[in-house]
Amino acid sequence: MVPKLIIHGGAGSTPDSKGTEAWRSLHRIVAAVYGQLEAGCAATAAVLMACTQLEDDPCFNAGTGSVLQSDGQIRMSASLMEGTRQCFSGVINVSRVKNPILMAQALQCQGDRVLSDHGAAELARELGLPLYNPLTESRLQEWLQDRQNSTSPKRMAEVTMGTIGAVALDREGRICAGTSTGGRGFERIGRVSDSATPAGNYANAIAGISCTGVGEDILDEGLATRIVVRVTDGLSLQEAIARSMDEGLSRQRDFGVIGVAVDGAIAWGKTTSVLFAAYHNGEQSFDTHDA
Ligand code: GLY
Repeated sequence: MVPKLIIHGGAGSTPDSKGTEAWRSLHRIVAAVYGQLEAGCAATAAVLMACTQLEDDPCFNAGTGSVLQSDGQIRMSASLMEGTRQCFSGVINVSRVKNPILMAQALQCQGDRVLSDHGAAELARELGLPLYNPLTESRLQEWLQDRQNSTSPKRMAEVTMGTIGAVALDREGRICAGTSTGGRGFERIGRVSDSATPAGNYANAIAGISCTGVGEDILDEGLATRIVVRVTDGLSLQEAIARSMDEGLSRQRDFGVIGVAVDGAIAWGKTTSVLFAAYHNGEQSFDTHDA
């Protein structure tokens, strides 16, 4: 089977809101990770590789470069879903770690597979993860500026939607989806992002989807699961995504999705002006910049 890979670095209101640096990063990461998939690496390993590289890139709102919440703290969430085993795991509102997606991975084989704040902190200690501060100067300045302007949460969402994600199909036909986020930005303490729920990240043996955008909109649509179920029930990936985007637009939702299917389909959709995504279809890589 020809492997497939698609990754995203969020959705936004203007194509250049993150500059060319973000597009360059997406292309670099797709090329590096696709090379591994071609060499026989498993879908899960490819998704972890892509997500950790995206988390480490300060252009994006996940890991290093995560946005600050209303109290000035960073709390991150991430999830991983292996399609063949149809197994979901995730961490919610975790602090002081470099790569939340690796914590989600560590929970794949455990009985308790979604952990939040205190439990997630204990997991980080158990895993021996070093303390890490994901704050960047530019995120701090954004937060200070927005606090001064008393920016509304909705405008913050428009500015900071930079959740990351990856979906891969490997040579053996296995699908995996991963998603990681610093949240919506300026949210109240305790808010739970869609990214560590099956609404924001879902995969089975037939298809996998990772979402970005306003978490509440994604939760309201049960978006990732709904698209995967539609594909499982017979729609093509493209049709399933198009139908969910039409529904989202009719309800003024702000989000974007990426996905792959076991038949080799690779697709994306958005209700926002732009989706920062890049993919490799087995022949060459593309991005969604001009679409
Ligand atoms: N989609 C990321 C969030 O709203 O938290």
